[in-house]
Amino acid sequence: MSDYTRIRVKPITGALGAEVFDIDLAQPLDDATLAEITRAWHNHLVLIFRDQDLTDQQQYDFSARFGPIIPHPYVKGLPEIPEIFQIIREPGESYSWDSFYHSDLMFLERPPLGATLYAKEIPPYGADTAFTNQYLAYETLSDGMKALLDGLEAVNESGDPVKYSNRYQSMEELAKNDAMSATHPVVRVHPDTGRKSLFASLAFTKRFKGMTEKESLPLLQFLYDHSIQAHLGCRLAWQPQSLALWDNRVCLHHAVSDYFGEVATHRRVMQRATIEGEPPIPVH
Ligand code: SIN
Repeated sequence: MSDYTRIRVKPITGALGAEVFDIDLAQPLDDATLAEITRAWHNHLVLIFRDQDLTDQQQYDFSARFGPIIPHPYVKGLPEIPEIFQIIREPGESYSWDSFYHSDLMFLERPPLGATLYAKEIPPYGADTAFTNQYLAYETLSDGMKALLDGLEAVNESGDPVKYSNRYQSMEELAKNDAMSATHPVVRVHPDTGRKSLFASLAFTKRFKGMTEKESLPLLQFLYDHSIQAHLGCRLAWQPQSLALWDNRVCLHHAVSDYFGEVATHRRVMQRATIEGEPPIPVH
């Protein structure tokens, strides 16, 4: 039986994800409704709201109910709202942005707590976004591995800043160009739920603190393979005007680049508002 009174929530898989119904995000949300959305978000980690007719400002305003909105450090945003940027794949482009499981901007001292992604233009099918639950990734490890990881920190690097825009026909680089790096606990504690989750992805995590890349790689590779298993995940199948909200602290995600056949001939435009987070909380 549902314990929500203001929204309807339908889980997507046993691992994570839920569709939320009976809500219009273009309208200002009262505190009780926001509290229910936040509870559903903590329960399911990624929420998708269908048929939301939103202006850029309305996407910003909804996203800002969860925290300050920050620009992407390397990708130019919208002219009117530079904190929001578009992820654009033109028909026939050979690369797809973010087609590797990651948590966004892990190389910031305060990695985002979450993000909203709004479907502006999408292929008629395919080009989903896949998510995996990093609470479960941690909880399904052995006690010995958990104890080892609980005490580790890792170095997370942006890599070359221009790669975020220069491979893509319709994405523009922001002026700021320095590569960034931040050291974070490999296991973090969620400030609201108190649960532990794995916080590592080969997309950004280069090595454990105090170890070389070569020494770190075998364990990082194991953790990556472990954390992206299908039974820990769900896929969001987009429709025009779907908006997703995810908790970036406890999910990995990637854009599934099934750009074959008809899907490859379509433009895909997604619009992201990124919500500032806190320095990840270590286990001890
Ligand atoms: C992202 O990584 O923020 C974008 C995912 C997507 O385009 O599906």
